Amino acid sequence: MTHRSGRHFLQIPGPTNVPDRVLRAIDNATMDHRGPEFGRMGLEIFEGLKSVFQTKQPVVIYPASGTGAWEAALVNTLSPGDRVLMFETGHFATLWNKMATRLGLSVELVPTDWRRGVDPAAVEAKLKEDRAHAIKAVCVVHNETSTGATSRIGAIRKSIDAAGHPALYLVDTISSLASIDYRHDEWGVDVTVAGSQKGLMLPPGLSFNALSDKALKASQSAKLPRSYWSWDEMLANNKTGYFPYTPATNLLYGLHEALKMLAEEGLQNVFARHARHAEATRRAVRAWSLEILCSVPEEYSNSLTAVMMPAGHDADRLRKVILEAYDMSLGTGLGRLAGKVFRIGHLGDFNDLTLAGTLAGVEMGLELAGVPHKKGGVLAAFEHLTESARAPSRKVA
Ligand SMILES: Cc1ncc(COP(=O)(O)O)c(C=O)c1O
Repeated sequence: MTHRSGRHFLQIPGPTNVPDRVLRAIDNATMDHRGPEFGRMGLEIFEGLKSVFQTKQPVVIYPASGTGAWEAALVNTLSPGDRVLMFETGHFATLWNKMATRLGLSVELVPTDWRRGVDPAAVEAKLKEDRAHAIKAVCVVHNETSTGATSRIGAIRKSIDAAGHPALYLVDTISSLASIDYRHDEWGVDVTVAGSQKGLMLPPGLSFNALSDKALKASQSAKLPRSYWSWDEMLANNKTGYFPYTPATNLLYGLHEALKMLAEEGLQNVFARHARHAEATRRAVRAWSLEILCSVPEEYSNSLTAVMMPAGHDADRLRKVILEAYDMSLGTGLGRLAGKVFRIGHLGDFNDLTLAGTLAGVEMGLELAGVPHKKGGVLAAFEHLTESARAPSRKVA
Protein backbone atom coordinates (compact mmCIF):
# COMPACT_ATOMS: atom_id res chain seq x y z
CA MET A 1 0.00 0.00 0.00
CA THR A 2 1.20 3.48 -0.82
CA HIS A 3 0.13 6.40 1.33
CA ARG A 4 -2.20 8.83 -0.43
CA SER A 5 -2.13 12.34 0.94
CA GLY A 6 -5.32 14.25 1.69
CA ARG A 7 -8.61 12.79 2.83
CA HIS A 8 -10.42 10.11 0.82
CA PHE A 9 -13.70 11.38 -0.68
CA LEU A 10 -16.33 8.86 0.40
CA GLN A 11 -19.15 9.98 -1.88
CA ILE A 12 -21.13 6.76 -2.02
CA PRO A 13 -24.72 7.15 -0.79
CA GLY A 14 -23.80 5.65 2.54
CA PRO A 15 -21.95 4.85 4.63
CA THR A 16 -21.22 8.57 4.67
CA ASN A 17 -18.28 10.57 6.01
CA VAL A 18 -18.26 10.47 9.81
CA PRO A 19 -17.62 13.96 11.23
CA ASP A 20 -14.72 14.45 13.64
CA ARG A 21 -17.06 15.31 16.54
CA VAL A 22 -18.72 11.91 16.16
CA LEU A 23 -15.39 10.08 15.77
CA ARG A 24 -14.09 11.76 18.94
CA ALA A 25 -17.25 10.76 20.82
CA ILE A 26 -16.92 7.12 19.76
CA ASP A 27 -13.30 7.22 20.90
CA ASN A 28 -14.25 7.36 24.60
CA ALA A 29 -13.70 4.48 27.01
CA THR A 30 -16.54 1.96 26.97
CA MET A 31 -18.69 2.39 30.08
CA ASP A 32 -20.85 0.02 32.15
CA HIS A 33 -24.05 -0.35 30.16
CA ARG A 34 -25.93 -1.08 33.41
CA GLY A 35 -24.51 1.92 35.26
CA PRO A 36 -26.18 5.29 36.02
CA GLU A 37 -24.23 7.32 33.45
CA PHE A 38 -25.36 5.01 30.66
CA GLY A 39 -29.01 5.27 31.71
CA ARG A 40 -28.84 9.07 31.54
CA MET A 41 -27.28 8.97 28.07
CA GLY A 42 -29.80 6.35 26.93
CA LEU A 43 -32.76 8.52 27.92
CA GLU A 44 -31.29 11.54 26.09
CA ILE A 45 -30.74 9.44 22.98
CA PHE A 46 -34.32 8.08 22.94
CA GLU A 47 -35.66 11.64 23.31
CA GLY A 48 -33.35 13.04 20.61
CA LEU A 49 -34.29 10.29 18.17
CA LYS A 50 -37.97 11.18 18.46
CA SER A 51 -37.34 14.64 17.04
CA VAL A 52 -35.39 13.21 14.08
CA PHE A 53 -38.21 10.76 13.22
CA GLN A 54 -40.73 13.57 13.95
CA THR A 55 -42.61 11.31 16.34
CA LYS A 56 -43.82 11.17 19.91
CA GLN A 57 -43.80 7.36 19.79
CA PRO A 58 -40.96 5.09 20.95
CA VAL A 59 -37.94 4.43 18.74
CA VAL A 60 -36.17 1.08 19.18
CA ILE A 61 -32.39 0.82 18.52
CA TYR A 62 -30.76 -2.42 17.35
CA PRO A 63 -27.05 -3.21 17.17
CA ALA A 64 -27.49 -4.25 13.54
CA SER A 65 -27.31 -2.91 10.01
CA GLY A 66 -30.49 -1.65 8.36
CA THR A 67 -31.40 -5.15 7.17
CA GLY A 68 -31.90 -6.19 10.79
CA ALA A 69 -34.41 -3.38 11.33
CA TRP A 70 -36.29 -4.51 8.18
CA GLU A 71 -36.60 -7.96 9.74
CA ALA A 72 -37.67 -6.51 13.09
CA ALA A 73 -40.44 -4.50 11.40
CA LEU A 74 -41.84 -7.62 9.72
CA VAL A 75 -41.50 -10.20 12.52
CA ASN A 76 -42.98 -7.94 15.18
CA THR A 77 -46.14 -7.13 13.25
CA LEU A 78 -47.01 -10.05 10.93
CA SER A 79 -47.90 -13.75 10.97
CA PRO A 80 -46.90 -16.62 8.65
CA GLY A 81 -48.75 -16.45 5.32
CA ASP A 82 -49.88 -12.82 5.79
CA ARG A 83 -50.26 -10.91 2.54
CA VAL A 84 -47.96 -7.95 2.08
CA LEU A 85 -47.99 -5.34 -0.69
CA MET A 86 -44.56 -4.18 -1.90
CA PHE A 87 -43.36 -2.07 -4.83
CA GLU A 88 -40.26 -2.90 -6.83
CA THR A 89 -38.86 0.61 -6.97
CA GLY A 90 -35.26 -0.62 -7.11
CA HIS A 91 -32.67 -2.96 -5.65
CA PHE A 92 -33.49 -2.37 -1.98
CA ALA A 93 -37.22 -2.88 -2.43
CA THR A 94 -36.30 -6.17 -4.15
CA LEU A 95 -34.20 -7.25 -1.18
CA TRP A 96 -36.96 -6.41 1.31
CA ASN A 97 -39.31 -8.54 -0.77
CA LYS A 98 -36.80 -11.42 -0.72
CA MET A 99 -36.58 -11.22 3.06
CA ALA A 100 -40.36 -11.11 3.52
CA THR A 101 -40.78 -14.14 1.25
CA ARG A 102 -38.09 -16.07 3.16
CA LEU A 103 -39.89 -15.27 6.41
CA GLY A 104 -43.02 -16.98 5.07
CA LEU A 105 -45.04 -13.91 4.08
CA SER A 106 -47.01 -13.87 0.87
CA VAL A 107 -45.75 -10.86 -1.06
CA GLU A 108 -47.35 -9.15 -4.01
CA LEU A 109 -44.56 -7.17 -5.66
CA VAL A 110 -45.80 -4.40 -7.99
CA PRO A 111 -43.17 -3.76 -10.69
CA THR A 112 -41.87 -0.31 -11.76
CA ASP A 113 -39.23 0.77 -14.28
CA TRP A 114 -36.75 1.60 -11.43
CA ARG A 115 -36.90 5.29 -12.43
CA ARG A 116 -39.62 6.52 -10.09
CA GLY A 117 -41.19 6.10 -6.66
CA VAL A 118 -44.37 4.30 -5.73
CA ASP A 119 -47.47 5.61 -7.49
CA PRO A 120 -49.98 6.59 -4.76
CA ALA A 121 -52.88 5.88 -7.16
CA ALA A 122 -51.60 2.31 -7.64
CA VAL A 123 -51.61 1.82 -3.86
CA GLU A 124 -55.20 3.00 -3.66
CA ALA A 125 -56.29 0.77 -6.56
CA LYS A 126 -54.60 -2.34 -5.10
CA LEU A 127 -56.11 -1.78 -1.67
CA LYS A 128 -59.59 -1.10 -3.06
CA GLU A 129 -59.44 -4.44 -4.91
CA ASP A 130 -58.73 -6.16 -1.59
CA ARG A 131 -62.26 -6.00 -0.19
CA ALA A 132 -61.61 -8.81 2.30
CA HIS A 133 -58.68 -6.86 3.80
CA ALA A 134 -56.34 -9.81 3.32
CA ILE A 135 -53.37 -7.44 2.83
CA LYS A 136 -51.86 -6.88 6.27
CA ALA A 137 -49.06 -4.45 5.40
CA VAL A 138 -47.96 -2.01 2.72
CA CYS A 139 -44.15 -1.70 2.57
CA VAL A 140 -42.49 1.26 0.85
CA VAL A 141 -38.86 2.38 0.52
CA HIS A 142 -38.90 6.18 1.01
CA ASN A 143 -35.61 6.84 -0.77
CA GLU A 144 -34.46 4.10 -3.17
CA THR A 145 -30.71 4.31 -2.72
CA SER A 146 -30.15 2.28 -5.90
CA THR A 147 -32.03 4.74 -8.15
CA GLY A 148 -32.16 8.15 -6.46
CA ALA A 149 -35.97 8.23 -6.61
CA THR A 150 -38.17 8.92 -3.59
CA SER A 151 -41.71 7.81 -2.85
CA ARG A 152 -44.26 10.32 -1.58
CA ILE A 153 -44.95 8.85 1.85
CA GLY A 154 -47.63 11.39 2.85
CA ALA A 155 -49.52 10.94 -0.44
CA ILE A 156 -49.39 7.15 -0.08
CA ARG A 157 -50.84 7.49 3.43
CA LYS A 158 -53.74 9.42 1.88
CA SER A 159 -54.22 6.61 -0.67
CA ILE A 160 -54.38 3.98 2.08
CA ASP A 161 -56.98 6.11 3.89
CA ALA A 162 -58.93 6.79 0.68
CA ALA A 163 -59.19 3.03 0.16
CA GLY A 164 -60.47 2.71 3.74
CA HIS A 165 -57.98 -0.11 4.24
CA PRO A 166 -56.60 -1.16 7.66
CA ALA A 167 -53.18 -2.44 6.43
CA LEU A 168 -50.12 -1.45 8.43
CA TYR A 169 -47.80 1.02 6.72
CA LEU A 170 -44.08 0.12 6.94
CA VAL A 171 -41.51 2.54 5.52
CA ASP A 172 -37.76 2.18 4.94
CA THR A 173 -35.99 5.52 5.55
CA ILE A 174 -32.48 4.09 5.63
CA SER A 175 -31.14 6.66 3.16
CA SER A 176 -33.58 9.50 3.85
CA LEU A 177 -33.76 9.95 7.63
CA ALA A 178 -32.05 13.19 8.69
CA SER A 179 -31.54 14.15 5.02
CA ILE A 180 -35.00 14.36 3.44
CA ASP A 181 -38.11 15.58 5.27
CA TYR A 182 -39.78 12.58 6.92
CA ARG A 183 -42.70 12.71 9.38
CA HIS A 184 -43.47 9.42 11.13
CA ASP A 185 -46.50 10.67 13.08
CA GLU A 186 -48.02 13.11 10.61
CA TRP A 187 -47.84 10.57 7.78
CA GLY A 188 -49.35 7.84 9.91
CA VAL A 189 -46.51 5.38 9.45
CA ASP A 190 -46.71 2.28 11.66
CA VAL A 191 -43.08 1.18 11.53
CA THR A 192 -40.26 3.35 10.22
CA VAL A 193 -37.02 1.49 9.50
CA ALA A 194 -33.74 3.43 9.57
CA GLY A 195 -29.97 2.94 9.81
CA SER A 196 -27.06 4.82 11.35
CA GLN A 197 -24.67 5.11 8.42
CA LYS A 198 -26.27 7.75 6.20
CA GLY A 199 -28.02 10.96 7.32
CA LEU A 200 -27.19 10.25 10.96
CA MET A 201 -23.47 10.51 10.07
CA LEU A 202 -22.43 7.43 12.08
CA PRO A 203 -20.54 4.34 11.04
CA PRO A 204 -22.71 1.34 10.07
CA GLY A 205 -23.91 -0.83 12.94
CA LEU A 206 -27.07 0.68 14.43
CA SER A 207 -30.58 0.48 13.07
CA PHE A 208 -33.99 1.66 14.21
CA ASN A 209 -37.71 0.99 14.31
CA ALA A 210 -40.02 3.93 15.09
CA LEU A 211 -43.39 2.53 16.15
CA SER A 212 -47.06 3.47 16.28
CA ASP A 213 -49.80 2.39 18.69
CA LYS A 214 -51.28 0.33 15.86
CA ALA A 215 -47.96 -1.45 15.29
CA LEU A 216 -47.62 -2.15 19.02
CA LYS A 217 -51.14 -3.58 19.07
CA ALA A 218 -50.35 -5.76 16.01
CA SER A 219 -47.22 -7.04 17.77
CA GLN A 220 -49.38 -8.56 20.52
CA SER A 221 -51.00 -11.01 18.10
CA ALA A 222 -48.27 -11.33 15.41
CA LYS A 223 -47.08 -14.94 15.11
CA LEU A 224 -43.82 -14.81 13.12
CA PRO A 225 -41.10 -16.26 15.38
CA ARG A 226 -38.99 -13.56 17.04
CA SER A 227 -36.72 -13.29 20.01
CA TYR A 228 -33.72 -11.02 19.47
CA TRP A 229 -35.82 -8.54 17.47
CA SER A 230 -38.77 -8.54 19.84
CA TRP A 231 -39.98 -5.05 20.76
CA ASP A 232 -41.51 -5.90 24.15
CA GLU A 233 -38.32 -6.49 26.16
CA MET A 234 -36.60 -3.63 24.35
CA LEU A 235 -39.33 -1.14 25.22
CA ALA A 236 -39.50 -2.30 28.85
CA ASN A 237 -35.74 -1.71 29.29
CA ASN A 238 -35.63 1.48 27.18
CA LYS A 239 -38.01 3.22 29.61
CA THR A 240 -35.08 3.77 31.98
CA GLY A 241 -32.47 4.25 29.25
CA TYR A 242 -31.21 0.65 29.15
CA PHE A 243 -31.25 -2.36 26.81
CA PRO A 244 -32.13 -6.04 27.36
CA TYR A 245 -28.76 -7.11 25.95
CA THR A 246 -25.33 -5.53 25.54
CA PRO A 247 -25.82 -2.42 23.40
CA ALA A 248 -23.22 -1.04 20.95
CA THR A 249 -22.01 1.38 23.64
CA ASN A 250 -19.46 3.31 21.58
CA LEU A 251 -21.76 3.70 18.59
CA LEU A 252 -24.31 5.09 21.03
CA TYR A 253 -21.76 7.72 22.14
CA GLY A 254 -21.54 8.64 18.47
CA LEU A 255 -25.32 8.74 18.11
CA HIS A 256 -25.60 10.96 21.19
CA GLU A 257 -23.18 13.44 19.58
CA ALA A 258 -24.76 13.23 16.10
CA LEU A 259 -28.19 14.01 17.58
CA LYS A 260 -26.71 17.11 19.25
CA MET A 261 -25.21 18.20 15.92
CA LEU A 262 -28.52 17.77 14.08
CA ALA A 263 -30.33 19.73 16.81
CA GLU A 264 -27.74 22.53 16.64
CA GLU A 265 -28.14 22.84 12.86
CA GLY A 266 -31.93 22.44 13.07
CA LEU A 267 -33.73 19.65 11.21
CA GLN A 268 -35.35 22.02 8.69
CA ASN A 269 -31.93 23.52 7.87
CA VAL A 270 -30.55 19.99 7.42
CA PHE A 271 -33.32 19.24 4.88
CA ALA A 272 -32.76 22.58 3.09
CA ARG A 273 -29.02 21.93 2.90
CA HIS A 274 -29.59 18.52 1.29
CA ALA A 275 -32.14 19.97 -1.14
CA ARG A 276 -29.73 22.70 -2.23
CA HIS A 277 -26.80 20.33 -2.78
CA ALA A 278 -29.02 17.89 -4.67
CA GLU A 279 -30.27 20.66 -6.97
CA ALA A 280 -26.70 21.83 -7.65
CA THR A 281 -25.71 18.24 -8.47
CA ARG A 282 -28.60 17.81 -10.91
CA ARG A 283 -27.62 21.06 -12.64
CA ALA A 284 -24.10 19.69 -13.05
CA VAL A 285 -25.39 16.42 -14.53
CA ARG A 286 -27.59 18.28 -17.03
CA ALA A 287 -24.72 20.58 -18.01
CA TRP A 288 -22.57 17.49 -18.68
CA SER A 289 -25.39 16.38 -21.03
CA LEU A 290 -25.82 13.21 -19.02
CA GLU A 291 -29.17 11.85 -17.88
CA ILE A 292 -30.50 11.61 -14.33
CA LEU A 293 -31.94 8.13 -13.74
CA CYS A 294 -35.00 9.36 -11.81
CA SER A 295 -37.51 10.43 -14.46
CA VAL A 296 -40.06 12.16 -12.19
CA PRO A 297 -38.78 15.57 -10.98
CA GLU A 298 -41.03 15.68 -7.92
CA GLU A 299 -39.48 12.38 -6.85
CA TYR A 300 -35.83 13.40 -7.19
CA SER A 301 -33.78 12.28 -4.20
CA ASN A 302 -32.01 14.92 -2.14
CA SER A 303 -29.51 12.43 -0.71
CA LEU A 304 -28.09 10.98 -3.90
CA THR A 305 -28.17 11.36 -7.68
CA ALA A 306 -27.92 8.30 -9.95
CA VAL A 307 -26.40 9.25 -13.32
CA MET A 308 -26.90 7.19 -16.47
CA MET A 309 -23.87 6.40 -18.60
CA PRO A 310 -23.91 7.07 -22.35
CA ALA A 311 -24.50 3.85 -24.33
CA GLY A 312 -21.36 1.73 -24.70
CA HIS A 313 -19.65 3.18 -21.59
CA ASP A 314 -19.27 1.26 -18.35
CA ALA A 315 -20.02 3.10 -15.10
CA ASP A 316 -17.70 0.86 -13.10
CA ARG A 317 -14.78 1.70 -15.35
CA LEU A 318 -15.44 5.40 -14.77
CA ARG A 319 -15.65 4.78 -11.00
CA LYS A 320 -12.32 2.94 -11.13
CA VAL A 321 -10.64 5.79 -13.03
CA ILE A 322 -11.99 8.31 -10.49
CA LEU A 323 -10.91 6.21 -7.51
CA GLU A 324 -7.41 5.75 -8.86
CA ALA A 325 -6.89 9.32 -10.06
CA TYR A 326 -8.72 11.34 -7.39
CA ASP A 327 -9.15 8.99 -4.43
CA MET A 328 -12.93 9.34 -4.52
CA SER A 329 -15.47 6.50 -4.14
CA LEU A 330 -18.78 6.84 -5.99
CA GLY A 331 -21.72 4.44 -5.71
CA THR A 332 -21.88 1.49 -8.09
CA GLY A 333 -24.94 0.46 -10.11
CA LEU A 334 -26.87 -2.19 -8.17
CA GLY A 335 -28.86 -5.14 -9.52
CA ARG A 336 -30.12 -4.53 -13.03
CA LEU A 337 -28.38 -1.13 -13.06
CA ALA A 338 -24.87 -2.65 -12.75
CA GLY A 339 -22.48 -0.87 -15.11
CA LYS A 340 -25.26 1.43 -16.32
CA VAL A 341 -25.29 4.09 -13.63
CA PHE A 342 -22.99 5.63 -11.05
CA ARG A 343 -24.36 7.28 -7.94
CA ILE A 344 -23.17 10.50 -6.33
CA GLY A 345 -23.86 10.61 -2.59
CA HIS A 346 -24.52 14.15 -1.31
CA LEU A 347 -25.84 13.37 2.14
CA GLY A 348 -24.72 13.46 5.73
CA ASP A 349 -21.80 15.60 6.88
CA PHE A 350 -21.53 17.60 3.68
CA ASN A 351 -21.03 21.25 2.68
CA ASP A 352 -20.60 23.42 -0.40
CA LEU A 353 -16.90 22.69 -0.74
CA THR A 354 -17.42 18.94 -0.30
CA LEU A 355 -19.85 19.16 -3.19
CA ALA A 356 -17.40 21.26 -5.20
CA GLY A 357 -14.67 18.65 -4.72
CA THR A 358 -17.03 15.79 -5.50
CA LEU A 359 -18.32 17.29 -8.74
CA ALA A 360 -14.81 18.37 -9.79
CA GLY A 361 -13.69 14.75 -9.34
CA VAL A 362 -16.58 13.51 -11.48
CA GLU A 363 -15.99 16.07 -14.23
CA MET A 364 -12.25 15.40 -14.40
CA GLY A 365 -12.97 11.66 -14.29
CA LEU A 366 -15.37 11.86 -17.24
CA GLU A 367 -12.62 13.56 -19.23
CA LEU A 368 -9.91 11.12 -18.16
CA ALA A 369 -12.07 8.06 -18.85
CA GLY A 370 -13.07 9.37 -22.29
CA VAL A 371 -16.79 9.44 -21.47
CA PRO A 372 -18.60 11.74 -23.93
CA HIS A 373 -19.88 14.79 -22.05
CA LYS A 374 -19.97 18.58 -22.20
CA LYS A 375 -17.79 20.63 -19.90
CA GLY A 376 -19.24 23.08 -17.41
CA GLY A 377 -21.12 20.89 -14.94
CA VAL A 378 -19.06 22.13 -12.02
CA LEU A 379 -19.66 25.75 -13.05
CA ALA A 380 -23.40 25.17 -13.34
CA ALA A 381 -23.40 23.76 -9.81
CA PHE A 382 -21.30 26.68 -8.49
CA GLU A 383 -23.76 29.15 -10.00
CA HIS A 384 -26.60 27.53 -8.10
CA LEU A 385 -24.59 27.44 -4.89
CA THR A 386 -23.65 31.11 -5.07
CA GLU A 387 -27.11 32.29 -6.20
CA SER A 388 -28.85 30.37 -3.45
CA ALA A 389 -26.28 31.51 -0.85
CA ARG A 390 -27.21 35.12 -1.70
CA ALA A 391 -30.91 34.53 -1.10
CA PRO A 392 -31.82 36.60 2.00
CA SER A 393 -33.79 33.83 3.70
CA ARG A 394 -30.93 31.40 3.67
CA LYS A 395 -28.11 30.93 6.15
CA VAL A 396 -25.07 29.45 4.40
CA ALA A 397 -24.68 25.85 5.60
C1 LIG B 1 -32.89 2.05 1.19
C2 LIG B 1 -32.07 0.97 1.83
N1 LIG B 1 -32.70 -0.05 2.42
C3 LIG B 1 -32.00 -1.03 3.02
C4 LIG B 1 -30.63 -1.06 3.03
C5 LIG B 1 -29.90 -2.17 3.70
O1 LIG B 1 -29.28 -1.68 4.83
P1 LIG B 1 -27.95 -2.34 5.43
O2 LIG B 1 -27.00 -2.50 4.29
O3 LIG B 1 -27.49 -1.33 6.45
O4 LIG B 1 -28.33 -3.63 6.05
C6 LIG B 1 -29.94 -0.02 2.43
C7 LIG B 1 -28.47 0.01 2.40
O5 LIG B 1 -27.84 0.81 1.78
C8 LIG B 1 -30.68 1.03 1.81
O6 LIG B 1 -30.05 2.05 1.22
